[in-house]
Amino acid sequence: MKISVIGAGYVGLTTAACLGQVGHDVFCSESDKEKLSKLQSGVMPLFEPHLEEVIQSTREAGRLRFGSTEEAIEWGDAIFICVGTPPLPNGDADLSAIEAVALAIAKRASGYRLVIEKSTVPVQTGSQLKKHLSLHRSKGLKCDVASNPEFLREGTSVEDFLHPERIVVGVDSPRAESILREIYEPIVKQTFTCPIHTDCEKNGEPIFLVTDIGSAELIKHASNSFLAMKISYINMVANLCEIVGADVTKVAQGMGLDARIGSFFLSPGIGFGGFCFPKDVQAFIRIAEKSGCDFSLLKEVEKINQGRIGHVVEKLRNELWVLRGKRIALWGLAFKPNTDDIRFAPSIALVSSLLQEGAEVRAYDPEAMEKAKSVLPNITYCADPYEAAQGADALVIVTEWDEFRRPDWDRLRSSIERPLIIDGRNVLEPAEVTRQGFHYVSVGRQALSPAESSSETDDRHTVAGVRNQPADVLAS
Ligand code: UGA
Repeated sequence: MKISVIGAGYVGLTTAACLGQVGHDVFCSESDKEKLSKLQSGVMPLFEPHLEEVIQSTREAGRLRFGSTEEAIEWGDAIFICVGTPPLPNGDADLSAIEAVALAIAKRASGYRLVIEKSTVPVQTGSQLKKHLSLHRSKGLKCDVASNPEFLREGTSVEDFLHPERIVVGVDSPRAESILREIYEPIVKQTFTCPIHTDCEKNGEPIFLVTDIGSAELIKHASNSFLAMKISYINMVANLCEIVGADVTKVAQGMGLDARIGSFFLSPGIGFGGFCFPKDVQAFIRIAEKSGCDFSLLKEVEKINQGRIGHVVEKLRNELWVLRGKRIALWGLAFKPNTDDIRFAPSIALVSSLLQEGAEVRAYDPEAMEKAKSVLPNITYCADPYEAAQGADALVIVTEWDEFRRPDWDRLRSSIERPLIIDGRNVLEPAEVTRQGFHYVSVGRQALSPAESSSETDDRHTVAGVRNQPADVLAS
């Protein structure tokens, strides 16, 4: 099928490349001229595992091309809208990019089009889209509108697209449903050539869930807000664990063994970030407010999340007393590993608090430093983790990149001024850290000094919080 994807961000690029991979003829547009010319000349504008290879092979196979919005509108029988919906100052989602695309489609397209909202949008955006497409159409456009929310995680978006747990489509016509079924058939039946795995059988077939448009829109906001709630919940419990001397890793493990609770998204840390959870929780609260529903539960979720940075800074103060003049090393800037994305990353608020207190910040991130430089100009960017730790009074682990899980302890010990690690993501194994002579402060567990490294301590803390792993896996 001829498909257009409007917007070449994380979601749009993944959608375009993967739809090409499964056999469709895809045209992807981007309004940012610089980004478009990069894409046209085969340069990736962002880092996302596997995406570059999939883009390259689908382009070579002639099933993916890049160009302008106008060309995209002409091209596709189905048009996926994947433009950004950033937050407005009042928390509402800014829908101006969606509106601009709708007007362009209405003005330019003739014949039938299925217009699909993939960007995360507030409930009832579908009906607005429909209304405005029909109000402004000038070439006899006939169209249906559908909602097809994405559940792609940055860092695993290609895998999530090709092997999803569920595909949700919100439609109000049989024609729209049948087009979406056709688009997703290779994925539902898992009949495509997988660019990631040699054996995909274990992934199984996804559920194709058909709903009305409003319900599909709500599924997205409700899912992201629920996951954010789980994270804030475990962060709240982690605070209590620190006070009463319990181990949040064990608590999460015990909770997660209950299938009704589930073990994912119970990793405590310095809070959720990224371009999805913070804005989606805010937008969901605003939608509820406007509809007269009390969503104060989600306001608490936000409040707990916002408190996470203060909590880390407090831990630093407990250890270092005065932060002015102290050198702090940060490992990780991206909002999570396997991405270069720093939008709404906790590192931004952390750096700003540290600089405000008069500390000096040195940082290393394997992928996000280029993007961080314009947002965080007043810190020192380092070539590797040990250069960042050079002369530091404390090391804070901000993002759980794999390479931070097994540091070269000798190098770290000889770089750092004071052997203090604040592990904001529970990536290290406490017994190992203290055995290596470091004072270790993690999340929801007791702080440990090197002297406390005994066999009893080892038994208590053999489980490092490997994030985004089910708690039962962590416990084994
Ligand atoms: C999230 C959802 O997981 C996707 O399903 C959704 O499609 C996407 O938003 C979106 O709306 O587009 P993403 O933002 O890429 O995906 O990242 P997640 O892996 O969900 O992590 C979000 C944040 O929560 C990160 O800052 C992460 O560090 C934090 N987190 C996650 C925790 O603090 N603890 C956890 O246990 C899990």
